[in-house]
Amino acid sequence: MSLLRNAQKWLEERLEWEDLIAPLRKKTVPKHHLSYWYFLGGITLFLFVIQVLTGILLLLYYRPGANEAFESVQYIMTQVQFGWLIRSIHSWSANLMIFTAFAHMFSVLFLKAYRKPRELTWISGMILLFLVMGFGFSGYLLPWNTLAFFATKVGTEIAGQVPVIGKPMMIFLRGGEEVTGATLTRFFGFHVAVLPGLATVLILLHVLLVQRLGMSVPPKLEVEWNSNPAARREMKFFPNFALRELMAWYVALGVLGALAAVFPWNLGVKADPFVAAPAGIKPEWYFLFMFQTLKLIPAKVWFIDGEIVGVLAFGVIGLLWLLLPFLESAYPSRPKRWITGLAVFALAYVAGMSVYGHLAK
Ligand code: HEM
Repeated sequence: MSLLRNAQKWLEERLEWEDLIAPLRKKTVPKHHLSYWYFLGGITLFLFVIQVLTGILLLLYYRPGANEAFESVQYIMTQVQFGWLIRSIHSWSANLMIFTAFAHMFSVLFLKAYRKPRELTWISGMILLFLVMGFGFSGYLLPWNTLAFFATKVGTEIAGQVPVIGKPMMIFLRGGEEVTGATLTRFFGFHVAVLPGLATVLILLHVLLVQRLGMSVPPKLEVEWNSNPAARREMKFFPNFALRELMAWYVALGVLGALAAVFPWNLGVKADPFVAAPAGIKPEWYFLFMFQTLKLIPAKVWFIDGEIVGVLAFGVIGLLWLLLPFLESAYPSRPKRWITGLAVFALAYVAGMSVYGHLAK
């Protein structure tokens, strides 16, 4: 006991709780009819933490390797106390996190929060979005079931279509020419070491930038508030906004817990590389809009392979999306509000193609 008291005294002499939260006490959050969109980044962060915690628990029993991965997940689901629930939470939370990251990206786009001085916040966010999709792609293979095996085969094959670097990239991802146990080992490494490391650093940078630059205000409101400073309304980040955020996390936890318990995640059938691919194999929902687009492109566009054209087009669009804040400042009003139009189109396209991809045979 006295050891604990001494440690507390030692800490108190060096650290003042007030000093620690002082920057948060100074921070304010704008208060307006669109303020609720400010919760989305925090919910994504909360789900990321859930992923790390449940991922560590799964690691206690999961074994990578073509001969044991499926069996170890089966063991987790049938023998380990609450193993099925932890796995179900991990899988549901992964999907919810990808959804909230996309929703956060679109909300930032519509609210024009990417504009100067927040270009770097946008870029770090976009890289996080790519990483989050990488988490999904690499994690999907880990249970080594039939669907995951063939989805990985198709997905890495598509990556292999990129001219020049495609083939070496495919071999790097697969750890050879084919999807085998070597692919599983690699994906495991990406999923539990490389991606979490990169994502943690980027999330820290992202949140630090948000802290440094303060929250943006939608442009129309900014003009209004600048012309009439008395109309400006704000709330303290700590404790007012932080407590509201906590409530949002509580709701997210409730939704997640209910989904995981009521709809436990399936395991399916163990992968067998020697059987034919099941008919109508599809990737996870967040890749469907790209997958369906590639299916609709004709086999040859002029004299180039249709799939290559599609993959290249998505690569270029991804790069332009990453650089959007700079493109907007280079072409400020031509036509007026072109980014809003583009965002509406992109949202409708992604949603429409995903539904179409889901329904298509
Ligand atoms: C793992 C993924 C992500 C996490 C954990 C995360 C976290 C956060 C948090 C906690 C905030 C402050 C609250 C808020 O505005 O919601 C924020 C703000 C922001 N995020 Fe993200 N974010 C992620 C992905 C993204 C993506 C994909 C983009 C866009 C490409 C993005 C761009 C931004 C911008 C521009 C802001 C500033 C908003 C403003 O000032 O109004 N973030 N993010």
